[in-house]
Amino acid sequence: MNTLQLDLGERSYPIHIGSNLIGQADLYKKHLKGNFSAVVTNETVAKLYADTVVKTLEGLGQKVRLIVLPDGEAYKTWETLQKIFDGLLESGADRKATLIALGGGVIGDMTGFAAACYMRGIRFIQVPTTLLSQVDSSVGGKTGINHPLGKNMVGAFYQPVAVIADLATLKTLPPKELAAGLAEVIKHGAIFDATFLSWIENNIQALNACDLAAMEHAVQRSCEIKSSVVAQDEREGGLRAILNFGHTFGHAIESGMGYGEWLHGEAVGCGMVLAADLSVRLGLLKAEDAKKLKDIIAQLNLPTQPPKFGVARYMELMAIDKKAEGGEIRYILLDGIGKSKIQAVDDELVAQTLIATGAA
Ligand code: NAD
Ligand code: GLY
Repeated sequence: MNTLQLDLGERSYPIHIGSNLIGQADLYKKHLKGNFSAVVTNETVAKLYADTVVKTLEGLGQKVRLIVLPDGEAYKTWETLQKIFDGLLESGADRKATLIALGGGVIGDMTGFAAACYMRGIRFIQVPTTLLSQVDSSVGGKTGINHPLGKNMVGAFYQPVAVIADLATLKTLPPKELAAGLAEVIKHGAIFDATFLSWIENNIQALNACDLAAMEHAVQRSCEIKSSVVAQDEREGGLRAILNFGHTFGHAIESGMGYGEWLHGEAVGCGMVLAADLSVRLGLLKAEDAKKLKDIIAQLNLPTQPPKFGVARYMELMAIDKKAEGGEIRYILLDGIGKSKIQAVDDELVAQTLIATGAA
């Protein structure tokens, strides 16, 4: 097992990465305060892993409540959040209670937000079980739910007390979900670390096969990169926005298709192809590097062909993205592989990218 530390002063926490960790009592023990824990998960993950986690906590003398939510992005809502509060209040959970988020990003984001709100804040541990949540969403403290008018529009920055990323849980992940997680791994290499992107390029087969040694390096390096960015800019005052590379176009694809048609990671994968093309047009990135990135995305079974919504519709969809601040969209661009830049771009140039990539 490897352990990284996300440095945020008194809110610092360890990120444990390894195989068969969810049943290791000592990883939870030092982070529990009282004698009550609630394991929050969904119907799919509960069948696979809830028993191990509940028994491990009971072995530590905890009274444990299992809260099983419906599975899916469509349930990342107020109504589902209420079910967490219902379970906690019915159990008489007090301010010393600990929440355990056992699942992917949907469970992690919702449980973190519940922890931020319940009795004005209780501790929570992230136990991410998808690749996307291990390399991205469990780290950094963005929590929240969706609103009918926008994704992740209601939430809080609220850090967990620990992250326990058990690589063995990835073995049960459907291939499409694995690919969606790999999009965020590619993103980390593209924006921050050219050597890591070359490693990804040289390990395509192992990554597609969910080889655990490859997964370990992918999760480890991604968490190092994300931790380093978050430690410098926890609340996205500036630098942290680079983690949204591919997301401006990606969110347009996701919402334009209707949420659920494309997985978030698939849309981000394709969004990176468009953002790289735009970077080439601005003279920031070499065309051959944009092609290399596109090839990696395709070989990791992610879509590279955007849906053909047309220029006007893309512009409309991107303008409502929450990252459109002060009336202008700030694009995350590649300033060469491994370096990024955030800037506004002339609409005409964006239109050229949309046309050239077949989005219009
Ligand atoms: P998800 O949580 O919906 O999980 C994907 C699917 O995999 C679900 O059906 C789930 O039940 C299933 N699953 C989970 N673990 C499994 C396992 N080990 N074996 C088999 N099936 C398993 O999706 P996700 O991709 O993990 O997360 C997406 C969410 O994360 C979105 O809501 C997105 O907004 C959010 N997100 C948050 C951040 C952040 O910084 N907080 C970053 C990126 C994404
Ligand atoms: N996934 C982007 C962030 O955490 O900032």
